[in-house]
Amino acid sequence: MHSLNVFTKLKNENKPIVGITAYDACFSTLINENNADFILVGDSVGNVVAGFESTIPVTMEQMLYHTNLVTKKATVPVIADMPFLSYEIDEKTALINAGRFLKDCGAHAVKLEGGKEIIETVKKLTCANIPVMGHIGLQPQAILKLGSYKIQGRTKQQAEELLENALALEAAGVFAIVLECVVAETATMITEKLNIPTIGIGSGNGTSGQILVIHDILGLSSSEKKIAKQYVNLKEEINKALKKYAEEVREKIFPGIDNSF
Ligand code: KIV
Repeated sequence: MHSLNVFTKLKNENKPIVGITAYDACFSTLINENNADFILVGDSVGNVVAGFESTIPVTMEQMLYHTNLVTKKATVPVIADMPFLSYEIDEKTALINAGRFLKDCGAHAVKLEGGKEIIETVKKLTCANIPVMGHIGLQPQAILKLGSYKIQGRTKQQAEELLENALALEAAGVFAIVLECVVAETATMITEKLNIPTIGIGSGNGTSGQILVIHDILGLSSSEKKIAKQYVNLKEEINKALKKYAEEVREKIFPGIDNSF
């Protein structure tokens, strides 16, 4: 379904929502063929494609470029991550930047990290008919303040703060909220208190859906993470294939008759 209605529909039917990240047309096509419910063009592109240490350096221009590549082939809703400092400066800048993902790239929604501190911005976007996905818990764009990527919502106070942020985002009109690295019990509690779906990553099984970074699923990331699951080790397969190709070129096996005109 090429519409955000899929989020409400699946939540109402009590069916888990499946999200995967993609950053180009090649993976977008593969995802289409494999039954995901939505694609996120995550600013994790900074980590897994651009080789940055964090998502901080990712720019609007990079996100627009990758979103354009993904929407070309996508048959499910595409949500674009708004990068660091593309929505914090003021609401007008946020509106212009969010609008570019919809108007110039064909994205269906944008995702913003943050809770109560970004509520006025979220309202500005939703009032302008820009669908917004929230993102609370571990916010990778706040890594310089946080110091490390750690699990959120451990204490009662943290859990209450997360719930307040989730309720504020829901009231501001977001259609779903990503809960990243939130203690499973807290994520389940938040999910039960909301009418909109929650999408978990590293937040247990009690959320309305899950999202994973495609490179983690495929074994293409630099390290295995507890929050993800590697379903295949493509790095190993790619290494084998590239070694074989180099060997065959050096031994003059490739190109053979079949590859020649
Ligand atoms: O950038 C990203 O890929 C994300 C997901 C991990 C939720 O924000």
